[in-house]
Amino acid sequence: MAQSPVQSLLTSLLSSPVDLFYLTGASLLAWIVLTAIQQAWFSPLSDIPGPRLAAVSRLWLMWQDAFCNGAATQLLMKLHQEYDFYHRIYKVNSDFLKDPGFYHAFGMRGSLPMELDNDKAQALRKLLNPTLAKPSVDRMAEMVYQKVRQFSEITLEKKGSINIRPGFQSLSAGIICVCCFGREFNIITDEDDPAGISQTTDLVSHHLWKVHYLPFLASHLTNAPNWMKRSLFAGYHNFREQCVALVQTTLNAPKDSRRTGIIDTMLDASQAGTWESPDEEFLTDQIFSLVFAGIDTSSITMTSAFYYILSSPDVLLRLQDELRGNTPNIEETYDWNKVRQLPYLSAIIKETLRISSPAPGRFPRIVPPAGLHHKTSFIPGGTVLSSCIYHIHQNPNLFPEPEKFQPERWLEQDSIGLEKYLVAFSKGSRSCPGIHLSYLEIYTVLAIFFSRFDMELLSPSKDEGLAWSDHGVAVFKSPVKVRIVTDHWRK
Ligand code: HEM
Repeated sequence: MAQSPVQSLLTSLLSSPVDLFYLTGASLLAWIVLTAIQQAWFSPLSDIPGPRLAAVSRLWLMWQDAFCNGAATQLLMKLHQEYDFYHRIYKVNSDFLKDPGFYHAFGMRGSLPMELDNDKAQALRKLLNPTLAKPSVDRMAEMVYQKVRQFSEITLEKKGSINIRPGFQSLSAGIICVCCFGREFNIITDEDDPAGISQTTDLVSHHLWKVHYLPFLASHLTNAPNWMKRSLFAGYHNFREQCVALVQTTLNAPKDSRRTGIIDTMLDASQAGTWESPDEEFLTDQIFSLVFAGIDTSSITMTSAFYYILSSPDVLLRLQDELRGNTPNIEETYDWNKVRQLPYLSAIIKETLRISSPAPGRFPRIVPPAGLHHKTSFIPGGTVLSSCIYHIHQNPNLFPEPEKFQPERWLEQDSIGLEKYLVAFSKGSRSCPGIHLSYLEIYTVLAIFFSRFDMELLSPSKDEGLAWSDHGVAVFKSPVKVRIVTDHWRK
């Protein structure tokens, strides 16, 4: 029987593997080109300005994030400032849910930061309240004060140049561990953080983008042999092992020795039947994510504050005047209520959070099915959308001369309206539950250090600036080094 033209073409192709290879290659290429044209010029998003490569493929973003040291956040600034829908996405009861493509890449699916379901997240957040709500945090003021005083003694002993961030990481780790476990883990008293928690957070952020773009690595990591985990993701693996050990210690502790930490609240709720029974891994995920979220962000803020204050002589003088006029509330007893109301210190902290944006970047959400109308654009349901914290903080229409450190902008008469745009802790139902703890920590560190010591900034210089790249948190490109010149409390 005679073959049809198509049949004879197929027969001839199948009889020649080389032709088949070329045909497959050409078809693939044609498919890629057509898809790219469709994405760039005919998709519903094609009128949104931006690099055409980014419109065509996710590879552009991956290149900027993973190979150009988290450069996308800063590159996209101008474009994103035209799309000011921050407060529409990140608000109370928002129906823009967290994007699984981003949040599930890191594993730990049941943990609060990675939870996509808002109801489940609210249930988890309730369990944090006994420890992290404002009144509970206020009761921790004395504990935090003692830790910071102790930390100031340790810092004083380090003569000469001091790289300040690792110390802040240890301090924050010590404080968050008290919150999680209700007891001390001796992190800052020992020379170099014996648990290694603070240093490993650096490695975790270092690997963040790799894990994000190769999510199978994260999800298979837990089951991989130990040697492989250590060589591939040393930081992540070490850090997690430490959390497992800390959780096991608590689970094995006698019931009557229960403390007041978050882990105890979770176990109590589970026993009372008000919360589903947590297994060890689930608990580890919760604690791992809390400790990680609490260490880097706070230490970045305090490091930035030191840099900006010490590189702005007028700001430094005004702060020292305010604090040293309040020495009895800081040195003799700690009056947290008075300290948190100090106007210039408060302005400095707001300005530091604004200019440093410790968690600067994209926290992607999915556009709800109805889509989003914005100016002349329509963004269809299912699109992944984000609005960067750093872009809001650097918007010159909101904050004139945004690159300048100007605490005074928070003291002007109309500055109350600016608070809405201080989004360092994000806004809405999924905003940061650690906000009160962070404020307590930051206020206390600045109050003690700047009333007690005269310090000098060694590096980076004001001309070099405090450069960072986005690794989920703002990772500094060079360490901030200071020197203590005078101790006013021991004169
Ligand atoms: C200056 C310090 C801090 C900053 C700037 C900061 C910033 C943020 C931001 C921007 C988010 C929203 C992320 C998202 O949308 O996915 C967030 C969430 C979160 N933060 Fe913080 N944070 C800080 C300190 C802390 C501390 C001390 C803790 C722990 C006690 C903490 C625990 C969390 C948790 C668990 C979430 C997830 C909340 C949820 O998904 O519902 N953070 N933080």
